[in-house]
Amino acid sequence: MNLHLNHTRKDSAATGTSEVVATVLELLEEGHLQPAQFARLQIHLDWLQYKQNFREAVTVMHRGGEHDADTSPMEIRVDSRQVAPGVLRNLLQEAMSHGGPESEAAGRIYLEDSRSFRTSIAWEFNRLYWQRLKDWERATGKSYEQALPGGQSDGRQVEAISDSVGDFWTLLKDLERQNQLPQELFVLEIGVGMGARAGLWLDRFCALDQERGTNYYPRVRFLLGDYSLATLEYSRPAVKKHIDICSFIALDALDPIKTLSFLRHKILHVHSTNMYDNLPDEEVVWRDNRIFWIQVRAYLPAADAARISKACDVPVTDIPKMVNRLLEIGIEALPDRAKGMTFWMEVWHALRTEERLVDAVDMPDASFPAGLSSAHMEDILRNAPGDLRFHLSSGALESFRNTLPLLHPRGYLQVQDIFVTDLNEYCMGFHGPGKLDGSIVNWVNGALLREVAERAGYDLHFAPFRYRPGSKTSVLYTTRRE
Ligand SMILES: C[S@@+](CC[C@H](N)C(=O)[O-])C[C@H]1O[C@@H](n2cnc3c(N)ncnc32)[C@H](O)[C@@H]1O
Repeated sequence: MNLHLNHTRKDSAATGTSEVVATVLELLEEGHLQPAQFARLQIHLDWLQYKQNFREAVTVMHRGGEHDADTSPMEIRVDSRQVAPGVLRNLLQEAMSHGGPESEAAGRIYLEDSRSFRTSIAWEFNRLYWQRLKDWERATGKSYEQALPGGQSDGRQVEAISDSVGDFWTLLKDLERQNQLPQELFVLEIGVGMGARAGLWLDRFCALDQERGTNYYPRVRFLLGDYSLATLEYSRPAVKKHIDICSFIALDALDPIKTLSFLRHKILHVHSTNMYDNLPDEEVVWRDNRIFWIQVRAYLPAADAARISKACDVPVTDIPKMVNRLLEIGIEALPDRAKGMTFWMEVWHALRTEERLVDAVDMPDASFPAGLSSAHMEDILRNAPGDLRFHLSSGALESFRNTLPLLHPRGYLQVQDIFVTDLNEYCMGFHGPGKLDGSIVNWVNGALLREVAERAGYDLHFAPFRYRPGSKTSVLYTTRRE
């Protein structure tokens, strides 16, 4: 048996390696596990840092595509944090007895077919959350920022904003000195949320411009971009003092150039905070010098489905249909709004994903995000650890590539987010997906972003976010290579 320890927590409350080993040996001794099964058993011990997530405490990673079920590894993943004391044995035994898809046996209610997580229904819930944010906040009595570590977005850190404004002002001054300052000074923020950062940034810029007597402020055109009309509306009050120089633009962060093509090579500064970690993502495994895709299938566990059915007066068999309706029109999908809200929250909390591993050779149509070929990936992974599960951050890579053409030759993109900047970090902790209230959070694969940027002719570097002690945020900064 292979045991993979995928975290570095010494937490005494968490289920540890010795408990797992002792339990497996017990099951072997008692004949619940056959020697042939033991020989091909792979147990991954994770510690999921997000209390709300898409995993059950013990899960089997199924094999998809062409493979020999008798010889391929039996991969079981244990979330040390979720396994309550005394239940490991039962959960492991159950998982081992399944080996194959446990679905019908477990009475799961499926909400989709197997697919890349990137196209999972989970992302439609994420979108619904941003579109109907007020419904959710009203129901919980909390703003979305209260769910963040530290209780507020790093986008509000005044000192960070002041430094960012200072950098922008310096760029303008430099351009002016060289007689290259454009008449209109375009700034774009994507994923504005409540617009708090945009408001603070403009306050600070206006003050600095006055202090230094440069008169740049009236030339600024500040674009607030988001795919949620609701957040664009909520962000208005935050920038009301600057409303004459602001525009509110509905755009998909995956393809900003599509909406803003008239600003190609014109934007001097693009900023995002906590938005890349909220873009569709998928995972792959690098094993035996081969790539495997992880496919997921969203479902509701039987017990949760029964509970939701009772609480919301929706027959269990109608739940998938009602979920689709909810995602289309919101909580009005149910005749009673309060029940509609309960349905949304309960389904979201209960939502889990089954996983299967498919050899890339069995998925010839699956492709890496634009900017990355298979050969390129193999090159990047040549020195990576032997058995590595990691995020492709496809949405973030796509967004990045489709934002660069907007930048003025001297312009820069700044992204404040949670990044994995070294692939080894994937062996040492869980990096999503997690649930934050009604939204999804995934750490962003900064190592891949850097590769894509370099190949596109941009310099990219990460700086620690030094404005909040203990913050896990880093700041990505990219400019066109000279
Ligand atoms: C976690 S919030 C961050 C908000 C704000 N920047 C902050 O730090 O508080 C993510 C924001 O990104 C927006 N967003 C998510 N996916 C998007 C997409 N594909 N296109 C545009 N905006 C998106 C959401 O609507 C939301 O406003």
